[in-house]
Order: sequence, then structure tokens, then C-alpha cells
Amino acid sequence: MIQNKIFISPSILSADFANLERDIKRAENAGADWLHIDVMDGHFVPNITIGVPVTASIKKVAKVPLDVHLMIENPDKYIEPFANAGADILTFHYEAVDEANIKSLIEKIKSFNMKAGMSIKPKTAPEVAFPYLDYLDMLLVMTVEPGFGGQKFMPDCAEKIKSIRQKSSDIIIQVDGGINAETGKICKEYGANSLVAGNYVYKSENIIEAIQSLK
Ligand code: DX5
Ligand code: ZN
Repeated sequence: MIQNKIFISPSILSADFANLERDIKRAENAGADWLHIDVMDGHFVPNITIGVPVTASIKKVAKVPLDVHLMIENPDKYIEPFANAGADILTFHYEAVDEANIKSLIEKIKSFNMKAGMSIKPKTAPEVAFPYLDYLDMLLVMTVEPGFGGQKFMPDCAEKIKSIRQKSSDIIIQVDGGINAETGKICKEYGANSLVAGNYVYKSENIIEAIQSLK
């Protein structure tokens, strides 16, 4: 079930933060469709990365949409700040919110004219997302435990894409974690249509070849 358009979203977590504008331009010139921004709070995940001010600075130089992946507790508090910073797609984690609040969270994200995404961690069953597929623009299936770039792809997690694609033909299914040409191909065959890649893109010798090989 290969989808028509595949959105490639290089994760700037693997970029050189002292040369962020240069690395953003490199990815854009190599054919990146979006830029993936990993926001971590040291609570929901053990790592701390970047937040609202850096996202706002990136917005000033980026041409492509900003795909912001919130790996934080209380995502509700940060919807408006990230909207103001220029996020185009805002993805929260299913595991970080109360089930009763998910629909209103999605509506709130959309009310700021952003696309709404929800992510599931490796141990979370795909079925939990089924009630929300009609409301979400994107479902992000993690293929590593969130927290760090450069981890090994978990094939069992990618299998979850199949049942989600069966339930929804039009939702964007994104995968994140250990994606390269080979693992990305598996995910696309299962029905994913957005690939995040950090190390594979930014640690490659030829960024154009790396991005093109994911398409
Ligand atoms: C992991 C992050 C990923 C990470 C991916 O928690 O959500 O976006 O940057 O990095 P790679 O592609 O190197 O696994
Ligand atoms: Zn991510």
C-alpha cells in the first residue's frame, strides 16, 4: 500500500546546533519536505533538547513547514506558544495526556491553524489511536523509544502501521526512529507516508542522496 506522496522530515536533532541555519538550508536544498523539531522536557523523556525560542528562530530562516514533535508532559500548555513560534504541524504523545482530553487537544491545535498529530511509543498498541483517526491529520508511530537520535529501528513497531492504514486511507502516518533507505522502505510498504530521519540524513556523506533515497 505505497502512498502517492511521501513527506520527508529530517530531524534537526542530528544537525550541528552551532550551524543550524546552514544545516536547515542543506536539508531544504536536498529536497526535505518538512523539518522535524524534537522538543524534549527531561520528564516525559530523559533528554532535554530545544523549545519555543529556538523554534521561533528556525521559523525565520526555514522555507518548509515545521513539523514539531512534542515529547513533553502537559502538551496543552504549549500549544499556543508553539503556534506563535511558527509550528505548522504539532504532534503530542498519547502517553502524555489524559484520554478524556485528547479530542479537545486536537481541536485546540487545529484552532491555531496547525495540523494536529498524535504519537504512540513502541509499547503502545495501535488500537488506542483508532477513535481519533478521523480527527487527526497525522499519526506518528515511534520505531524507537523516544529520547535520543541514532537508535536502532524496531521492526515490530513498524508493523503497527498496517492496521492503522487499514482503518484510515487518508491520515498521514509518520515513522520516527532508526529510519534509513532500508527501514524506510519497509515502513512505506506498510503504508507510512512521512519519514523522519536524523542520523541517516545528517551523518551521511551526501545529504542529497540520503534524502532522495527515502522518497
Ligand atoms: C527520537 C526523536 C527522533 C530522532 C530520530 O526520540 O523523536 O526524531 O531525532 O533520530 P534517528 O533518525 O537518528 O533515529
Ligand atoms: Zn521525533
